[in-house]
Amino acid sequence: MATSEQRSHEPMCLSDFEELSKERMSVLALEYYSGGADDEVTLKENIQAFKRLRLRPRMLRGITEVDVSTTILGHQVSMPICISPTAVHKMAHPDAEVATAKACAKSKTLMTHSFFSSSKMEDVVNALGQAPRLQHLFIWNEKKEIVRRLIQEEERSGVKGFLITVDAAVRGKSHSYTTTTDFNYDLRSMNIFMPRFEEMFSKREEYTEEKTKKIGNGLTWDIISWVKSITKLPVILKGILTAEDAKLAVQHGADAIIVSNHGGRQLDGVLATIDALPEVVSAVNGQVEVYLDGGVRLGTDVLKALALGARAVFIGRPVLWGLACQGEEGVHKTLEILRTELKTAMILSGCSSLADIPASLITKQCQCNL
Ligand SMILES: Cc1cc2nc3c(=O)[nH]c(=O)nc-3n(C[C@H](O)[C@H](O)[C@H](O)COP(=O)(O)O)c2cc1C
Repeated sequence: MATSEQRSHEPMCLSDFEELSKERMSVLALEYYSGGADDEVTLKENIQAFKRLRLRPRMLRGITEVDVSTTILGHQVSMPICISPTAVHKMAHPDAEVATAKACAKSKTLMTHSFFSSSKMEDVVNALGQAPRLQHLFIWNEKKEIVRRLIQEEERSGVKGFLITVDAAVRGKSHSYTTTTDFNYDLRSMNIFMPRFEEMFSKREEYTEEKTKKIGNGLTWDIISWVKSITKLPVILKGILTAEDAKLAVQHGADAIIVSNHGGRQLDGVLATIDALPEVVSAVNGQVEVYLDGGVRLGTDVLKALALGARAVFIGRPVLWGLACQGEEGVHKTLEILRTELKTAMILSGCSSLADIPASLITKQCQCNL
């Protein structure tokens, strides 16, 4: 890691951005972005589990350059590193999701736009240009007709698929932001609005803290068939952690899965995503694409996830750190740092392309005790 003197000039890695962002964000933003549920066991475990895995590199393979381009649901991206949905980017930077979208377009990768976005959909669409976008949906049972309209509107705007978050029947309990504040009230007092959320709860009396806590309350597997009956676009489930649910997802017609524990913000004590990945990959047996998010901070983390069967990784908090530090430029640098680190790790491991990353790159013998 860079010294604090160097860091204030130019972050060299994602943890430099994390440190620097602490000086740039309000206390509310910092607590909201960094926090996890309960004792934050899973939040920490997401990082530690990557560090425990050890690599078995191959030598003398004559590799000097690597190709990291790939496709996500058939859409070309320049690397297997995409952006997870995270709420309210305006707390990090006034240019908010629009800056994130521009950075994503520059890096030629995919962005997932949160339902709790603090920017208008059309501004994000314009900023992304040709870069692919997934739209994240939270579905309140009693608001299905509004969701239907949103889906149709998003389709007209060129969205490539809908991501349903399945691990948020209620909002996980955090010791910091959720219990101490009325978050919606705080946002409004900072003049920050979430256009999609407000569309859904247009009547002021419905727009309560209670509503944002009870997201996806009472949903069942039928929700996938319901969304698929409205749209021909792919449906991606985010928040699957077990083989049992991975199989159900495939049976119910999901087009892809993101192995995710919401960055440790929902049920504390669940497995780190990199530890849950192998059983999900094995259960779906190539029938749908599997991605991972949670704790990805280094190119070697990306490499480990790919070796264990993920097609791509998604990042959440690192985008917010980059945004808080340097706006669009900071998000772009964050993505490019990860790309460079992944390429370096691939060359040093003897892998010339993504297809060339073997499962045997991860050693089964030694899981370092941290
Ligand atoms: C501040 C914040 C807001 C988030 N908002 C959402 C959201 O609106 N919808 C969602 O599905 N996940 C949300 N997530 C979870 C992320 O999509 C992602 O799963 C997680 O951040 C990945 O872990 P990482 O932060 O370690 O990369 C949020 C995460 C954070 C940190």
